[in-house]
Amino acid sequence: MNINPISSLRGIINIPSDKSISHRSVMFGSLALGTTTIYNFLMGDDCLSTIQCFRALGIPISIDGTTVVVHGKGMHGLSAPNDLLDCGNSGTTVRLLSGILAAQNFDVALTGDASIQKRPMKRVIEPLRQMGADLNAAKDNFCPIHIKPSKLTGITYHSPVASAQVKSCLLLAGLYGSSPTTVVEPSVSRDHTERMLGAFGATLTRQDTAVTVVPCEELYATDITVPGDISSAAFFMVAGLITPDSDITIKNVGINPTRKGILDVLLQMGGDITVFNEKIVCGEPVCDLRVRSSKLHGTTIGGSIIPTLIDEIPILAVAACLAEGKTVIQDAAELKVKESNRIAALHSELSKMGADITPTEDGLIVNGIKALHGAELNSFDDHRIAMSLAIAACNASSSSAIYNADCVKISFPNFYELLHEITTRE
Ligand code: S3P
Repeated sequence: MNINPISSLRGIINIPSDKSISHRSVMFGSLALGTTTIYNFLMGDDCLSTIQCFRALGIPISIDGTTVVVHGKGMHGLSAPNDLLDCGNSGTTVRLLSGILAAQNFDVALTGDASIQKRPMKRVIEPLRQMGADLNAAKDNFCPIHIKPSKLTGITYHSPVASAQVKSCLLLAGLYGSSPTTVVEPSVSRDHTERMLGAFGATLTRQDTAVTVVPCEELYATDITVPGDISSAAFFMVAGLITPDSDITIKNVGINPTRKGILDVLLQMGGDITVFNEKIVCGEPVCDLRVRSSKLHGTTIGGSIIPTLIDEIPILAVAACLAEGKTVIQDAAELKVKESNRIAALHSELSKMGADITPTEDGLIVNGIKALHGAELNSFDDHRIAMSLAIAACNASSSSAIYNADCVKISFPNFYELLHEITTRE
């Protein structure tokens, strides 16, 4: 994919639907009694992997445009698949499904693509074993994960990482436990599971960074409208801020407090972003955002804000490259175990464009410069690295080429088309 410098961005756009919420709507709908209709579902490869897995587990699911209808069969209605379940590139699918499948009465195995097979699964395997689950994986850490039937008991688990995938996995397994399950996190990760499971009839309580689920007999279908994904909006938020003479409006963006760290940090960096049309849709806060070109300055981020913007750090690093002064990102070692090692990827690729960027054990230090230049760039087959580099390339002084750029289809299938639509070139 060749990307040429652009002169400005103008227009009103809709961004893709939230990936985390789309996954959960299919999973919970499958486990519920009755029909769940999901409006505005994300037709990205990751969420399609979740649909494929639940179809293989015997759940009828139909797709019409962006509407998905799930004919749920109840908490004990899944059936053994004929084959290994293929979760593709999706960590959310593997980890949340592991929690659900640990409690079923059939043998099953989960795997995914080359990237998934390198991602750590011990973080769910260990606590699931504490609940009594029977799981086996290569080096106790890597897909494929083989799961045998077992009876689960509730536990209190102090997770060493703030991970919504770990938390959700255990809460889902906890639905099947003989007693309540509590997950305590170092700081609060995205809470879509808690919100949506409640809407499906489960009982959950929160106290500070701890959440407890009470085992239940059944969940009950409810319709879901998925908001736009702030993680996808982030690419256009940063693009609108760093591209001169730009003025864009991004409609229907989810601003759940456990997800909106990027908005807070960009405002803190001096970004001209107006939040308006705030409303609640299906238990999730949503708004429109107007973004105008701004002079950004560096900042320091770390601690409890990190889980609220973990997926947005690649594009934040691009903003930092062109901001005035120094930006320090710390407490973000999780970046090393995402779809790629994002600390290494951002360091190597943005350096090629002339950025002053230093990797650390748990983040990055970026000194802002006046301009980036074009380069030959690698996405490492990571959708968020590809999109971050594309936005950097739009703002470079010369053309760039991004290899393996089509991985954006994981979360944002029309990313390049949308960028093209609102771009004005000299
Ligand atoms: C997700 C949780 C986060 C995030 C991922 C989606 C989810 O991962 O990075 O893109 O839907 O629960 P971790 O739980 O590993 O932090």
